[in-house]
Amino acid sequence: MKILVLNGPNLNMLGVREPAIYGSRTYSDLEAFIKCAAEELGVPVEVRQSNHEGELVTWIQEARGAFDAIVINAAAYTHTSVAILDALKAVALPVVEVHLSDPMTREPFRHVSYVSFAAEATFKGRGFESYSDALKHLAEKGDR
Ligand code: DQA
Repeated sequence: MKILVLNGPNLNMLGVREPAIYGSRTYSDLEAFIKCAAEELGVPVEVRQSNHEGELVTWIQEARGAFDAIVINAAAYTHTSVAILDALKAVALPVVEVHLSDPMTREPFRHVSYVSFAAEATFKGRGFESYSDALKHLAEKGDR
């Protein structure tokens, strides 16, 4: 099983952006964390980040036939992007949604997740561990 991990806008600013919410570790730290967790689970991963909605849509489309599942933190696009939802539905791969924070305990505009309509599970509010939870979920499923 090969997993594509997609990160949306402003996640490249981790370590600088709102450290009280997102912590002081950087995006490179997150990438290293994800790769390490994947290696421990024995699942190959590719980790990408983009600030552009269209680029994320293209990467989701290209995942068809190239990856077995998608883990996505669409960041702000979670709450706005029908295009990302449609792309996730189009490729029909297993999708797991992740968030560092718990959007449900934040501003009301973060309470809607378009991504969740395509996701089989959501892991949130656990910082970097939300990603390892998502990988574990997919790895355990793959074992069955
Ligand atoms: C986020 C939560 C979103 O509401 C926000 O726009 C982000 C990050 C998270 O990981 O907690 O950029 O997806």
